[in-house]
Amino acid sequence: MSLTANWSYPTSVRFGAGRISEIADACAAAGIKKPLLVTDRGLANMDITTRTLDLLENAGLGRAIFADVDPNPNEKNAAAGVRAFNEGGHDGVVAFGGGSGLDLGKLVAFLAGQTRPLWDFEDIGDWWTRADADAIAPIVAVPTTAGTGSEVGRASVITNSETEEKKIIFHPKFLPSVVICDPELTVGMPGFITAGTGLDAFAHCVEAFSSPHYHPMSQGMALEGMRLVKEYLPRAYADGTDLEARAHMMSAAAMGATAFQKGLGAIHALSHPIGAIYHTHHGTTNAVCMPAVLQFNRPAIEDLFSQAANYLGIQDGFDGFCDYVDHLNASLNIPKSLTELGVSSPDIDRIVRGALIDPSTGGNPIEMTEENTRKLLLQIV
Ligand SMILES: [Fe+2]
Repeated sequence: MSLTANWSYPTSVRFGAGRISEIADACAAAGIKKPLLVTDRGLANMDITTRTLDLLENAGLGRAIFADVDPNPNEKNAAAGVRAFNEGGHDGVVAFGGGSGLDLGKLVAFLAGQTRPLWDFEDIGDWWTRADADAIAPIVAVPTTAGTGSEVGRASVITNSETEEKKIIFHPKFLPSVVICDPELTVGMPGFITAGTGLDAFAHCVEAFSSPHYHPMSQGMALEGMRLVKEYLPRAYADGTDLEARAHMMSAAAMGATAFQKGLGAIHALSHPIGAIYHTHHGTTNAVCMPAVLQFNRPAIEDLFSQAANYLGIQDGFDGFCDYVDHLNASLNIPKSLTELGVSSPDIDRIVRGALIDPSTGGNPIEMTEENTRKLLLQIV
């Protein structure tokens, strides 16, 4: 089977090994003549980034790059990116990287033409309608990890560096016009990033599948996304050059992020404040939280995950699924607790407060209260 295709759902996706060679054509399709490539510091000097800049330059699109992006990007990175975009006279963004590069790239394209401050666009009610939609620059997204799925998402996660809170900025036009999913770009990812990002995709699928909101399309996607992770994440972890496994993980990432339009839940609600305060890796933090959250949600999701277990070829229904998650985490060397993750004395009150106001909280199938969230968190410490 050829692992190459063009998809138009949820946006235009050029999927297949080697398709980064189409970057200039993708910019043309998005109406971009002078792109600013936005990525994080770690990727700035890597070969895949240099090659992409070469492709842009050779096509007469320049080779402008902004890479002053922290692992958990914040409002200062956004302001510097907007300055680079406007001073360079750019007309669009190539958002390139994992969650940080993609989210900040999307945000720069969104903010560059706005007059109101960033936090006016937080994902609360209809605040997104405050934006001047015509001033949002077009975006081409190029993921280099397989986890966040931000390439097919309509939001960016950004840390408020003063309050140490992760905020979601939402607008429908955050959805990139064109996405290049080239699994060859993920071949160089080290094992612990492969595991952490892959388990972020898995958490998106598990939480979307658990969420009580009505969205059968997402439900189907979440289930198949879990199957792809189950089959291919161990392979991608064991052999980073296994291109078939890398391709299916890239699909799982895009599927998880598309599916979570249905909702996220307690895993992300806890992971967001933990990551914002202690700068832990997002996907790895999710993986640490998942076993306890499955038990927390058990009364609401037991039957649902028995069905999922059947589809996934897992014996013993819900319990079998939980055992599978424990086994998967162990096989990928995921820490069992926040202490093992390096967060030895977490501020419980602060994390609980952050979790309860996180937008993911509303998608959890069991209502999260101060009391039960505290109990849940203490099981993870
Ligand atoms: Fe996530």
